[in-house]
Amino acid sequence: MNQIPTSLLTLIAGVVITLISFWVSQNHHLLPVQASEQAPWVDDFFSVMVGIGTALFIVVQGTILFFTLKYHKPDGDETDGVPIEGNFALEILWTAIPSIIVIGLGVYSVDVYEHMGGISAGSAMAHVHSAATHAHHDTMGTAIAAPMIADASDETSSSTDSSTTSSTTRIPAYGLTENHEGGLNVNVTAMQYAWLFDYPTEGVMPGELHVPIGQKVVLNMKAQDVIHSFWVPQFRIKQDVIPGEQTQLQFVATKLGEFPIVCTELCGAYHGGMRSTVVVQTREDYEKWVEETKIAQVSETNRAVASLSDSEFLAPYAKDLGITAEHLAHLHP
Ligand code: CUA
Repeated sequence: MNQIPTSLLTLIAGVVITLISFWVSQNHHLLPVQASEQAPWVDDFFSVMVGIGTALFIVVQGTILFFTLKYHKPDGDETDGVPIEGNFALEILWTAIPSIIVIGLGVYSVDVYEHMGGISAGSAMAHVHSAATHAHHDTMGTAIAAPMIADASDETSSSTDSSTTSSTTRIPAYGLTENHEGGLNVNVTAMQYAWLFDYPTEGVMPGELHVPIGQKVVLNMKAQDVIHSFWVPQFRIKQDVIPGEQTQLQFVATKLGEFPIVCTELCGAYHGGMRSTVVVQTREDYEKWVEETKIAQVSETNRAVASLSDSEFLAPYAKDLGITAEHLAHLHP
């Protein structure tokens, strides 16, 4: 040991720890599949934190282990240890390093949040778009496949990911509204213990959320009773749903398939059962689904009305009038 200077050993240890930490940050496999344009932002941030955490873990645990072995008390040694008190330089160092890390992560997290549309819902998607077309994140094998609606004429079909259907990224005028830069608006109502969806532009109120791949979707959310929280883990988006105040969430799905919608705010006894599904479809499938849902809704209403007997049909009206249905049928045969 004496031949090698301590500074060189420290340097080598630093390089090794950095390499290990970087490798762990890129290979932790802790997160579910990335299914939205927003997901890579969150995951990159998470990876940075995993990397820093790994380095700190190795440094702290390594130091403990090293000192335990090297300065182990020999048998029969009953003397006191060397009284060590204070080390100004060291104290500055171990205050400064965590401060820099925490402040840096804070700034980074706000940046990610803003890119995802958390701060200014209207303008934020432009950031996501410009970032997506810069074709980053390919190192993590992500799927930023779809160009944004706002720039459908832009031919930068940003990524070459094969798991998504590139032919579905042209956005026709279907289901678009004036506001929110052409996003597909869906009203979401949370209640104990269900999610209700309403597509104002499509005229459907389905039991689960269907969205076309590659299109910006804007969820306008409100709660009927208590606070809930809308979460799709694969999209890496989460937003509280609050009574008396509308909240918003926006995303662009980049992977076909079904993903769970989870309520992630303890909202009552059956909070755990408050789940739904988001189905990401190609544009053709999505449009087909809208038509089928419309037809099903109409025929359901017709069937419901047709299957009622006279008194059943009149019951709600009779109740309003405060008389029996038979009376009402008699009055209005
Ligand atoms: Cu709604 Cu938990």
